[in-house]
Amino acid sequence: MLRSDFATLFGQSPEIVTEAPGRVNLIGEHVDYCDGFVMPFAISDRTYAAIAKRDDRKIRISSKQRPEEIFETSLDLLSPAGEGDWERYILGVIWAFDKEITTGLDILVDGGVALGAGLSSSAALECSIATALNNLFAAGLSLPELARLAQRAENEYVGVPCGIMDQSVSLMAKAGSALLLDCRDLSTEQIPLDLASAGLELMIIDTRAHHALVDGGYAERRASCESAAAKLGVKALRDCSIAKLESSRAKLTELEYMRAEHVVNDIERVHETVQFLKQNDFVSVGKILTKSHASLRDLFEISCAELDLAVDTALANKSLGGRMIGGGFGGSAIAIFKVADIEPAKAAIAAAFKVAGFVEPRFFTSLPSSGAAVIG
Ligand code: GLA
Repeated sequence: MLRSDFATLFGQSPEIVTEAPGRVNLIGEHVDYCDGFVMPFAISDRTYAAIAKRDDRKIRISSKQRPEEIFETSLDLLSPAGEGDWERYILGVIWAFDKEITTGLDILVDGGVALGAGLSSSAALECSIATALNNLFAAGLSLPELARLAQRAENEYVGVPCGIMDQSVSLMAKAGSALLLDCRDLSTEQIPLDLASAGLELMIIDTRAHHALVDGGYAERRASCESAAAKLGVKALRDCSIAKLESSRAKLTELEYMRAEHVVNDIERVHETVQFLKQNDFVSVGKILTKSHASLRDLFEISCAELDLAVDTALANKSLGGRMIGGGFGGSAIAIFKVADIEPAKAAIAAAFKVAGFVEPRFFTSLPSSGAAVIG
């Protein structure tokens, strides 16, 4: 479909078609930019990109979601101060490849990751393009290099101060596993995540809430963590133990201490989760998720009424544990359930949202899926 749509739109065939997934983060939230450890997995929803080189320097971009619009610019006009709306995620990746990209491009994308749901539709878009260009121009970048390139596109071109987690998992995920990622050196370990064999399922609850704090709130949390690390005399909070944090309390403001306490403990929770997953102890994993939620809510202060209601209602309806995921102030929560408890829990969460006067939530599920790939 994407191939024939591309041909109709641009009058030539695509030279490459790629896909890249969105993600759910199992554990390790707001710790990637503290050089911490995270454990996300790729979801089955993905974004597709079809690309062909052009004979000139023109860049044309369209999407299956907005077929009537073709955005046009030139390779010579790429600049973080330049034009574009969602196209900037694509332009940023082209810009980050710099001299490797030597011709104009026709690009058609088909975004299958829900927008604004906190499932990293932007990383899926960036990584589908990065994978395509890496192959098309034989740039030879490794997956960690591609992840850093996509992050730079988002940080410097789009202007979002995100960490490295979303791009890394979109590129490096393997089906059936969560990705244990060291955000300092991008080394990874695939940790098998087989809920189904234990009769369990991971429910993803898109609260459809999107609160205004999203952008400023993220940057503010990041800044607090960086100032806490500087005052503690460490490169990043990853280098601070819980004992050191407690004994250095007087060096930090109350707010910095709260933020740091979340980060240091959530990194520890990632390591604990790895151990419990290796023992297939999902009861303990569930408890850790719930603890992480409380920490994100009370210490990091990035939850919101909708996320809290989703998690609380899940817990009151037999969930083994759950938490908000992603940047915060809206987006999605996850909760682990026995398969038989899923439908009643969904009904209870939907009913609770109705009573609270919130927008109706959307429910997804996904097995851990594979990362970005060339598919044609
Ligand atoms: C967003 C960012 C990530 C990460 C998470 C929070 O998804 O893009 O880099 O910081 O928030 O864990």
